[in-house]
Amino acid sequence: MTDTKKSVHGAWSSRFAFILAATGSAVGLGNIWKFPYITGENGGGAFVIVYLVCVLLIGIPIMIAETMLGRRSQRNPVETMALLTDEAGADKNWHYLGWMGVIAGMFILSYYSVIAGWASAYIVKAFAGSFFDADGTAIKGIFDDFVASPVQLIFWHSLFMLATMLIVVRGVHNGLEKAVQFLMPSLFVLMILLVGYAMTTGSYNQGLHFLFMPDFSKLTSDSVLTAMGHAFFTLSLGMGAIMVYGSYLPKGISIAKTAFLIAGADTAVALLAGIAIFPIVFANNLHPASGPGLIFQTLPIAFGAMAGGWLMGILFFVMLVIAALTSSISLIEPVVAWLVESKDLSREKACIWSGLVTWLLGLGTVFSFNVWSNVKFFDRNIFQLLDYLTANLMLPIGGFCIAVFAGWIMKRQHSEQELDMPNAASYQVWKILISYVAPLAVFFVFLHVIGVL
Ligand code: TRP
Repeated sequence: MTDTKKSVHGAWSSRFAFILAATGSAVGLGNIWKFPYITGENGGGAFVIVYLVCVLLIGIPIMIAETMLGRRSQRNPVETMALLTDEAGADKNWHYLGWMGVIAGMFILSYYSVIAGWASAYIVKAFAGSFFDADGTAIKGIFDDFVASPVQLIFWHSLFMLATMLIVVRGVHNGLEKAVQFLMPSLFVLMILLVGYAMTTGSYNQGLHFLFMPDFSKLTSDSVLTAMGHAFFTLSLGMGAIMVYGSYLPKGISIAKTAFLIAGADTAVALLAGIAIFPIVFANNLHPASGPGLIFQTLPIAFGAMAGGWLMGILFFVMLVIAALTSSISLIEPVVAWLVESKDLSREKACIWSGLVTWLLGLGTVFSFNVWSNVKFFDRNIFQLLDYLTANLMLPIGGFCIAVFAGWIMKRQHSEQELDMPNAASYQVWKILISYVAPLAVFFVFLHVIGVL
């Protein structure tokens, strides 16, 4: 596609670099912090199965579509939608899709940064030996005292936002490629060591049972929505993050293969986190539905008890923070890319403004865990509201629109050319999933939640 506008767009050095960056975006707090606690809140096995089915039938096809749209236009999401609607001769209202993504990204990052701040604070706690020989009650006490302090939460939230913006200022791919390259394997090894500890707790089977034995009577329509929303969240879909990364992807690289690799790695990390955490939950008489504090109330018990736990605790939280960083930059990059490319702001200015607004929004989440814990809208505190609004509503709606756009609006010859699948059959499978299965699934889950079905 020819492009006469100023291009400040870079390109990944290789397909491998794209895989690393996109995996870095996908693997984050969603896998290690969020997946276990929402699985705990939604009754375990059945929820996990719905989530896995959503990843396979909705997530992967949409990841392929989102990458494809970005690569075709080579622009930020707002302009991608504008450009591709022109190309397809479609209605101008599609432009709003790019907008919604930009807003969703800032909303998500506002609370993501607060939780990543917790993980950062836990590096210090691990280093100080706070978990040494502590039992479940003591570990819970440490967590409760910590989140009760707005000053501490603001401090760590600010630090994390600052780190994110410092990386984004330099452009997505300087240094990022290397960080992810070393991070992913190390994180994997640590998770496996933690699973090893979980096996010694005496509650390993109970944990596995909770995670993998489905009891469908525990599924409510809201749990199905949460599972579907999480498939979007954990794969970074529905708001343009993967579109931006796709826009840096050189032509001639197989999008479908890379999507499978990324989704596979992402799912593996989430399942490992669940397998490590639930045995500890049961061995210490903790409650699976302990909410957002779950990993902070369980894993430190392991670090306090196991041989080499001091070092492992430090390493674990360091890696969690790096994993969160490689995700957070993809949440803000669509905003920054748009401000730079379309609004002619310098990269520095774009970072300062978007960072400030996101930081300010994050204070709402900070206060939901202490001074504003009773401030509720629709029965949810500010953190829960932001999470529901983004993961359960905006991302699936964004994903639905991406699917409809890729399946119905974009000309077949264009998507065929862009995807360049090895054979006609695999293209056809994708085409059916993206045109029918994914959008209808999202649509029916929504109907079910609002009580029409
Ligand atoms: N996928 C990341 C995680 O699991 C979070 C994330 C990064 C994200 N970029 C995103 C979620 C874009 C939705 C959209 O932690």
